[in-house]
Amino acid sequence: MPYQGGFSPGIFPIKDFKRSRVMEIAPDVWMIEGYISSNFLKNPPSCNCFVLLDEDMVLLVDTGTYGFYREPILKILRRYRQEGAKRLVLMLTQGHFDHVANNDLILEAGYDDVRFLLPEVELTTIDLYNHWNNEAVELLEYYNPFRMLPMKGPTVIPNLVSRVSIELARAIFRLNTKILFRGIKTLADRAEILTSESRIKKQYGDTELWGWEVGRFFAIHDGTHSPGHTSFYDPKYKLLLTGDATLEINPPFFNGSMDACIDYMQRFRRLAEQGDIEIATDAHRSSIWTQKLQDEAKYDPLHPLQKVDVVTGKQDCAAFYDFFEEYFRALKAETLGILKRLGQATIPEIVEEFRASPNPYARFKNIIAFPKLPSRTDVMVANILKEADAPRRREGNRIIFTPPEKA
Ligand SMILES: [Fe+2]
Repeated sequence: MPYQGGFSPGIFPIKDFKRSRVMEIAPDVWMIEGYISSNFLKNPPSCNCFVLLDEDMVLLVDTGTYGFYREPILKILRRYRQEGAKRLVLMLTQGHFDHVANNDLILEAGYDDVRFLLPEVELTTIDLYNHWNNEAVELLEYYNPFRMLPMKGPTVIPNLVSRVSIELARAIFRLNTKILFRGIKTLADRAEILTSESRIKKQYGDTELWGWEVGRFFAIHDGTHSPGHTSFYDPKYKLLLTGDATLEINPPFFNGSMDACIDYMQRFRRLAEQGDIEIATDAHRSSIWTQKLQDEAKYDPLHPLQKVDVVTGKQDCAAFYDFFEEYFRALKAETLGILKRLGQATIPEIVEEFRASPNPYARFKNIIAFPKLPSRTDVMVANILKEADAPRRREGNRIIFTPPEKA
Protein backbone atom coordinates (compact mmCIF):
# COMPACT_ATOMS: atom_id res chain seq x y z
CA MET A 1 0.00 0.00 0.00
CA PRO A 2 1.49 3.36 -0.94
CA TYR A 3 1.52 6.27 1.50
CA GLN A 4 -1.90 7.01 2.98
CA GLY A 5 -0.88 9.40 5.74
CA GLY A 6 -1.10 13.12 6.37
CA PHE A 7 -4.02 14.77 8.06
CA SER A 8 -6.23 14.88 5.00
CA PRO A 9 -5.89 11.24 3.85
CA GLY A 10 -6.83 10.54 0.27
CA ILE A 11 -7.05 14.20 -0.65
CA PHE A 12 -3.57 14.50 -2.09
CA PRO A 13 -2.98 17.35 -4.54
CA ILE A 14 -2.45 15.14 -7.60
CA LYS A 15 -2.92 18.17 -9.86
CA ASP A 16 0.10 19.75 -8.19
CA PHE A 17 2.18 16.55 -8.37
CA LYS A 18 1.69 16.56 -12.15
CA ARG A 19 3.79 19.72 -12.32
CA SER A 20 6.81 17.78 -11.02
CA ARG A 21 9.40 17.31 -13.74
CA VAL A 22 11.81 14.53 -14.62
CA MET A 23 15.15 16.10 -15.50
CA GLU A 24 18.40 14.58 -16.77
CA ILE A 25 20.81 16.78 -14.83
CA ALA A 26 23.94 15.03 -16.20
CA PRO A 27 24.26 12.09 -18.65
CA ASP A 28 22.33 9.17 -17.09
CA VAL A 29 21.71 11.09 -13.88
CA TRP A 30 17.99 11.73 -13.39
CA MET A 31 16.22 13.97 -10.94
CA ILE A 32 12.56 13.10 -10.35
CA GLU A 33 11.31 16.32 -8.85
CA GLY A 34 9.27 15.99 -5.67
CA TYR A 35 6.75 18.28 -4.06
CA ILE A 36 6.58 20.98 -1.39
CA SER A 37 3.51 22.74 -0.05
CA SER A 38 3.25 25.59 2.41
CA ASN A 39 1.21 23.43 4.80
CA PHE A 40 3.33 20.58 6.15
CA LEU A 41 0.55 18.87 8.11
CA LYS A 42 -2.06 18.97 5.34
CA ASN A 43 0.18 18.12 2.40
CA PRO A 44 3.58 16.86 3.59
CA PRO A 45 6.55 17.19 1.22
CA SER A 46 7.95 14.54 -1.09
CA CYS A 47 11.68 14.66 -1.81
CA ASN A 48 13.44 14.82 -5.16
CA CYS A 49 14.56 11.30 -6.06
CA PHE A 50 17.64 10.52 -8.13
CA VAL A 51 18.55 7.67 -10.46
CA LEU A 52 22.22 7.34 -11.45
CA LEU A 53 23.64 4.77 -13.87
CA ASP A 54 27.15 3.32 -13.59
CA GLU A 55 27.80 0.60 -16.18
CA ASP A 56 25.49 -2.29 -15.21
CA MET A 57 24.49 -0.80 -11.84
CA VAL A 58 21.67 1.60 -11.18
CA LEU A 59 21.74 3.62 -7.97
CA LEU A 60 18.41 4.94 -6.71
CA VAL A 61 18.71 7.68 -4.09
CA ASP A 62 15.51 8.21 -2.05
CA THR A 63 11.96 7.26 -3.03
CA GLY A 64 9.68 10.13 -1.93
CA THR A 65 6.39 10.21 -0.06
CA TYR A 66 3.50 9.78 -2.47
CA GLY A 67 2.61 6.78 -4.61
CA PHE A 68 2.39 9.20 -7.54
CA TYR A 69 6.20 9.21 -7.85
CA ARG A 70 6.58 5.42 -8.17
CA GLU A 71 5.75 5.32 -11.88
CA PRO A 72 8.23 7.96 -13.10
CA ILE A 73 10.99 6.30 -11.04
CA LEU A 74 10.07 2.78 -12.19
CA LYS A 75 9.97 3.93 -15.81
CA ILE A 76 13.65 4.91 -15.69
CA LEU A 77 14.68 1.80 -13.72
CA ARG A 78 12.89 -0.50 -16.19
CA ARG A 79 14.36 1.29 -19.19
CA TYR A 80 17.91 0.79 -17.87
CA ARG A 81 17.16 -2.88 -17.16
CA GLN A 82 15.96 -3.36 -20.73
CA GLU A 83 19.16 -1.67 -21.91
CA GLY A 84 21.33 -4.12 -19.96
CA ALA A 85 21.57 -2.91 -16.35
CA LYS A 86 21.78 -5.90 -14.01
CA ARG A 87 22.00 -4.52 -10.48
CA LEU A 88 19.76 -2.12 -8.58
CA VAL A 89 20.98 -0.45 -5.39
CA LEU A 90 18.78 1.71 -3.17
CA MET A 91 20.41 4.18 -0.81
CA LEU A 92 18.90 7.01 1.18
CA THR A 93 20.09 10.45 2.04
CA GLN A 94 18.22 9.92 5.32
CA GLY A 95 15.53 7.80 6.95
CA HIS A 96 12.83 10.51 7.15
CA PHE A 97 9.37 9.58 5.89
CA ASP A 98 9.42 11.92 2.89
CA HIS A 99 12.47 10.02 1.55
CA VAL A 100 11.50 6.41 2.25
CA ALA A 101 7.78 5.87 1.72
CA ASN A 102 8.15 4.21 -1.70
CA ASN A 103 11.17 2.05 -0.81
CA ASP A 104 9.27 -1.13 -1.71
CA LEU A 105 9.18 -0.06 -5.38
CA ILE A 106 12.64 -1.64 -5.79
CA LEU A 107 10.89 -5.01 -5.67
CA GLU A 108 8.78 -4.03 -8.69
CA ALA A 109 11.54 -2.90 -11.04
CA GLY A 110 12.28 -6.40 -12.39
CA TYR A 111 15.95 -6.65 -11.28
CA ASP A 112 17.27 -10.00 -10.02
CA ASP A 113 20.02 -8.31 -8.03
CA VAL A 114 18.43 -5.79 -5.67
CA ARG A 115 20.17 -4.33 -2.62
CA PHE A 116 19.17 -1.74 -0.06
CA LEU A 117 22.16 -0.27 1.78
CA LEU A 118 21.48 1.62 4.99
CA PRO A 119 23.93 3.20 7.45
CA GLU A 120 23.63 1.62 10.89
CA VAL A 121 23.44 5.03 12.56
CA GLU A 122 20.27 5.81 10.60
CA LEU A 123 18.34 2.81 11.96
CA THR A 124 16.76 4.77 14.81
CA THR A 125 15.64 7.51 12.39
CA ILE A 126 14.04 5.22 9.80
CA ASP A 127 12.08 3.65 12.67
CA LEU A 128 9.70 6.55 12.01
CA TYR A 129 7.11 6.19 14.74
CA ASN A 130 9.59 5.48 17.53
CA HIS A 131 11.96 8.18 16.32
CA TRP A 132 9.36 10.94 16.56
CA ASN A 133 7.96 9.72 19.87
CA ASN A 134 11.32 9.08 21.53
CA GLU A 135 12.47 12.51 20.42
CA ALA A 136 9.56 14.10 22.27
CA VAL A 137 10.71 12.32 25.45
CA GLU A 138 14.32 13.46 24.95
CA LEU A 139 13.18 17.04 24.41
CA LEU A 140 11.25 16.99 27.69
CA GLU A 141 14.68 17.13 29.38
CA TYR A 142 15.13 20.52 27.68
CA TYR A 143 11.60 22.01 27.54
CA ASN A 144 8.01 21.00 26.92
CA PRO A 145 7.99 20.45 23.12
CA PHE A 146 4.21 20.01 23.01
CA ARG A 147 3.69 23.56 24.27
CA MET A 148 5.59 24.82 21.22
CA LEU A 149 3.34 23.06 18.69
CA PRO A 150 1.21 25.39 16.54
CA MET A 151 -2.19 26.38 17.92
CA LYS A 152 -4.00 25.31 14.78
CA GLY A 153 -4.83 22.05 13.06
CA PRO A 154 -4.04 18.66 14.61
CA THR A 155 -1.29 20.02 16.88
CA VAL A 156 -3.67 22.15 18.98
CA ILE A 157 -4.80 19.21 21.11
CA PRO A 158 -1.38 17.91 22.26
CA ASN A 159 -0.39 21.52 22.96
CA LEU A 160 -3.41 22.26 25.15
CA VAL A 161 -3.43 18.87 26.85
CA SER A 162 0.29 19.09 27.74
CA ARG A 163 -0.54 21.97 30.10
CA VAL A 164 -2.51 19.49 32.20
CA SER A 165 -0.92 16.10 31.50
CA ILE A 166 2.29 15.35 29.63
CA GLU A 167 1.36 11.65 29.54
CA LEU A 168 -1.91 12.40 27.77
CA ALA A 169 -0.18 14.79 25.36
CA ARG A 170 2.28 11.99 24.53
CA ALA A 171 -0.58 9.59 23.85
CA ILE A 172 -2.23 12.07 21.46
CA PHE A 173 1.09 12.77 19.78
CA ARG A 174 1.57 9.00 19.29
CA LEU A 175 -1.79 8.88 17.55
CA ASN A 176 -0.84 11.87 15.35
CA THR A 177 2.35 10.15 14.21
CA LYS A 178 0.43 6.95 13.43
CA ILE A 179 -1.83 8.99 11.12
CA LEU A 180 1.07 10.85 9.51
CA PHE A 181 3.03 7.68 8.64
CA ARG A 182 0.12 5.50 7.54
CA GLY A 183 0.92 3.09 4.72
CA ILE A 184 4.72 3.43 4.76
CA LYS A 185 6.86 0.33 4.23
CA THR A 186 10.48 1.32 4.69
CA LEU A 187 11.99 -2.17 4.01
CA ALA A 188 14.47 -1.38 6.81
CA ASP A 189 14.12 -5.00 7.97
CA ARG A 190 15.74 -6.27 4.76
CA ALA A 191 18.43 -3.60 4.44
CA GLU A 192 22.14 -4.43 4.39
CA ILE A 193 23.63 -2.44 7.21
CA LEU A 194 26.63 -0.17 6.60
CA THR A 195 28.65 0.16 9.79
CA SER A 196 30.63 3.28 10.59
CA GLU A 197 33.78 1.09 10.77
CA SER A 198 33.29 0.08 7.13
CA ARG A 199 33.57 3.68 5.94
CA ILE A 200 36.59 4.67 3.91
CA LYS A 201 38.38 8.00 3.80
CA LYS A 202 38.76 10.01 0.62
CA GLN A 203 40.92 13.04 0.26
CA TYR A 204 39.97 15.78 -2.19
CA GLY A 205 42.71 18.41 -2.12
CA ASP A 206 42.77 19.62 1.47
CA THR A 207 39.36 18.16 2.29
CA GLU A 208 38.73 14.82 3.93
CA LEU A 209 35.45 12.91 3.54
CA TRP A 210 34.29 9.59 5.01
CA GLY A 211 31.77 7.27 3.45
CA TRP A 212 31.08 4.21 1.34
CA GLU A 213 31.92 3.54 -2.31
CA VAL A 214 29.02 2.40 -4.48
CA GLY A 215 30.24 1.80 -8.02
CA ARG A 216 31.89 5.03 -9.13
CA PHE A 217 29.83 7.03 -6.62
CA PHE A 218 30.88 8.00 -3.12
CA ALA A 219 28.21 8.05 -0.42
CA ILE A 220 29.49 10.70 1.97
CA HIS A 221 28.42 10.23 5.56
CA ASP A 222 27.99 13.81 6.78
CA GLY A 223 25.59 13.34 9.73
CA THR A 224 24.06 16.78 9.17
CA HIS A 225 20.28 16.58 8.93
CA SER A 226 20.16 13.19 10.71
CA PRO A 227 22.83 10.94 12.30
CA GLY A 228 23.22 8.82 9.15
CA HIS A 229 22.59 11.59 6.64
CA THR A 230 24.47 10.87 3.44
CA SER A 231 25.34 13.01 0.43
CA PHE A 232 26.21 11.46 -2.93
CA TYR A 233 29.21 12.42 -5.05
CA ASP A 234 29.77 11.49 -8.67
CA PRO A 235 33.41 12.21 -9.62
CA LYS A 236 32.71 11.62 -13.34
CA TYR A 237 30.45 14.65 -13.69
CA LYS A 238 31.68 16.46 -10.55
CA LEU A 239 28.17 16.28 -9.23
CA LEU A 240 27.13 16.46 -5.58
CA LEU A 241 23.65 15.64 -4.24
CA THR A 242 23.40 16.93 -0.70
CA GLY A 243 20.02 15.52 0.36
CA ASP A 244 18.69 17.68 3.18
CA ALA A 245 22.13 18.93 4.30
CA THR A 246 21.55 22.10 2.28
CA LEU A 247 18.09 22.89 3.56
CA GLU A 248 16.92 26.09 5.15
CA ILE A 249 15.02 24.13 7.84
CA ASN A 250 18.12 22.58 9.46
CA PRO A 251 18.28 21.01 11.96
CA PRO A 252 14.60 20.00 12.18
CA PHE A 253 15.21 17.11 14.61
CA PHE A 254 17.06 16.83 17.88
CA ASN A 255 19.28 14.08 16.45
CA GLY A 256 20.44 16.28 13.56
CA SER A 257 23.48 18.49 14.01
CA MET A 258 23.85 22.21 13.41
CA ASP A 259 27.60 21.85 13.95
CA ALA A 260 27.83 19.16 11.26
CA CYS A 261 25.78 21.37 8.92
CA ILE A 262 28.30 24.19 9.36
CA ASP A 263 31.27 21.81 9.10
CA TYR A 264 30.07 20.13 5.89
CA MET A 265 29.05 23.36 4.17
CA GLN A 266 32.66 24.43 4.66
CA ARG A 267 33.99 21.12 3.29
CA PHE A 268 31.68 21.16 0.26
CA ARG A 269 32.55 24.81 -0.42
CA ARG A 270 36.26 23.90 -0.39
CA LEU A 271 35.57 21.03 -2.83
CA ALA A 272 33.75 23.40 -5.16
CA GLU A 273 36.49 26.02 -4.91
CA GLN A 274 39.06 23.33 -5.79
CA GLY A 275 37.05 22.53 -8.93
CA ASP A 276 35.69 19.17 -7.70
CA ILE A 277 32.01 20.20 -7.86
CA GLU A 278 30.39 21.62 -10.99
CA ILE A 279 26.81 20.42 -10.58
CA ALA A 280 24.96 20.65 -7.27
CA THR A 281 21.47 20.12 -6.05
CA ASP A 282 19.63 18.58 -3.12
CA ALA A 283 16.55 16.66 -2.06
CA HIS A 284 14.10 19.59 -2.08
CA ARG A 285 15.65 22.17 -4.42
CA SER A 286 13.04 23.12 -7.01
CA SER A 287 12.40 26.34 -8.88
CA ILE A 288 8.65 25.72 -9.18
CA TRP A 289 7.94 24.78 -5.58
CA THR A 290 10.22 27.47 -4.17
CA GLN A 291 8.37 30.05 -6.26
CA LYS A 292 5.02 28.75 -5.05
CA LEU A 293 6.20 28.78 -1.45
CA GLN A 294 7.56 32.28 -1.88
CA ASP A 295 4.24 33.52 -3.27
CA GLU A 296 2.20 31.85 -0.53
CA ALA A 297 4.46 32.68 2.41
CA LYS A 298 5.30 36.14 1.00
CA TYR A 299 9.04 36.26 1.35
CA ASP A 300 12.10 37.06 -0.68
CA PRO A 301 14.83 34.45 -0.83
CA LEU A 302 18.06 35.41 0.89
CA HIS A 303 20.12 34.25 -2.09
CA PRO A 304 19.15 33.73 -5.77
CA LEU A 305 20.62 30.20 -5.73
CA GLN A 306 17.94 29.11 -3.26
CA LYS A 307 15.47 29.24 -6.14
CA VAL A 308 17.13 27.09 -8.79
CA ASP A 309 16.67 23.41 -9.67
CA VAL A 310 20.36 22.73 -10.08
CA VAL A 311 23.41 24.89 -9.42
CA THR A 312 26.03 24.69 -12.15
CA GLY A 313 29.63 25.89 -12.49
CA LYS A 314 32.43 25.94 -9.95
CA GLN A 315 31.76 29.48 -8.78
CA ASP A 316 28.04 29.13 -8.20
CA CYS A 317 28.49 25.77 -6.49
CA ALA A 318 30.99 27.39 -4.09
CA ALA A 319 28.57 30.30 -3.56
CA PHE A 320 25.72 27.87 -2.83
CA TYR A 321 27.59 26.12 0.01
CA ASP A 322 29.00 29.43 1.21
CA PHE A 323 25.48 30.83 1.54
CA PHE A 324 24.36 27.85 3.66
CA GLU A 325 27.48 28.00 5.80
CA GLU A 326 26.78 31.65 6.51
CA TYR A 327 23.07 30.97 7.15
CA PHE A 328 23.72 28.14 9.63
CA ARG A 329 26.46 30.09 11.39
CA ALA A 330 24.13 33.10 11.71
CA LEU A 331 21.31 31.02 13.24
CA LYS A 332 23.70 29.48 15.76
CA ALA A 333 25.26 32.85 16.65
CA GLU A 334 21.84 34.46 17.04
CA THR A 335 20.64 31.68 19.38
CA LEU A 336 23.73 31.76 21.59
CA GLY A 337 23.77 35.58 21.42
CA ILE A 338 20.23 35.74 22.82
CA LEU A 339 21.14 33.43 25.71
CA LYS A 340 24.24 35.50 26.46
CA ARG A 341 22.21 38.72 26.44
CA LEU A 342 19.52 37.29 28.71
CA GLY A 343 22.09 35.73 31.05
CA GLN A 344 19.76 32.80 31.71
CA ALA A 345 16.66 31.63 29.88
CA THR A 346 14.36 28.72 29.08
CA ILE A 347 14.07 27.48 25.49
CA PRO A 348 10.60 29.07 25.00
CA GLU A 349 12.08 32.40 26.15
CA ILE A 350 14.96 32.10 23.67
CA VAL A 351 12.50 31.18 20.91
CA GLU A 352 10.39 34.24 21.71
CA GLU A 353 13.44 36.52 21.38
CA PHE A 354 14.49 34.71 18.21
CA ARG A 355 11.07 35.34 16.68
CA ALA A 356 11.51 39.07 17.27
CA SER A 357 15.07 39.16 15.93
CA PRO A 358 15.84 41.71 13.19
CA ASN A 359 18.70 39.51 11.91
CA PRO A 360 17.86 38.74 8.23
CA TYR A 361 18.75 35.05 8.57
CA ALA A 362 16.65 34.68 11.72
CA ARG A 363 13.79 36.52 10.01
CA PHE A 364 13.94 34.11 7.11
CA LYS A 365 13.95 31.12 9.48
CA ASN A 366 10.88 32.61 11.21
CA ILE A 367 8.97 33.02 7.94
CA ILE A 368 9.38 29.35 6.98
CA ALA A 369 8.58 28.08 10.50
CA PHE A 370 6.47 25.02 11.26
CA PRO A 371 3.75 24.21 10.25
CA LYS A 372 4.45 25.86 6.88
CA LEU A 373 7.59 23.77 6.56
CA PRO A 374 9.05 21.24 9.02
CA SER A 375 11.27 23.99 10.43
CA ARG A 376 10.94 23.91 14.21
CA THR A 377 12.78 26.81 15.81
CA ASP A 378 12.44 25.29 19.31
CA VAL A 379 14.16 22.08 18.18
CA MET A 380 16.92 24.06 16.48
CA VAL A 381 17.52 26.06 19.69
CA ALA A 382 17.60 22.84 21.77
CA ASN A 383 20.01 21.29 19.27
CA ILE A 384 22.36 24.28 19.41
CA LEU A 385 22.30 24.39 23.23
CA LYS A 386 22.95 20.64 23.41
CA GLU A 387 25.92 20.83 21.03
CA ALA A 388 27.34 23.88 22.82
CA ASP A 389 27.04 22.10 26.22
CA ALA A 390 25.00 24.96 27.70
CA PRO A 391 24.53 24.26 31.42
CA ARG A 392 20.92 23.65 32.44
CA ARG A 393 19.07 23.34 35.70
CA ARG A 394 15.49 22.65 36.69
CA GLU A 395 13.52 25.10 38.82
CA GLY A 396 9.98 23.81 39.28
CA ASN A 397 8.56 23.40 35.79
CA ARG A 398 11.23 25.56 34.18
CA ILE A 399 14.44 24.25 32.66
CA ILE A 400 16.86 27.14 32.70
CA PHE A 401 19.95 27.45 30.51
CA THR A 402 23.00 29.63 31.07
CA PRO A 403 25.56 30.59 28.41
CA PRO A 404 28.00 27.80 27.55
CA GLU A 405 31.71 28.26 28.14
CA LYS A 406 32.68 27.43 24.57
CA ALA A 407 30.33 30.00 22.94
FE1 LIG B 1 13.36 15.86 3.34
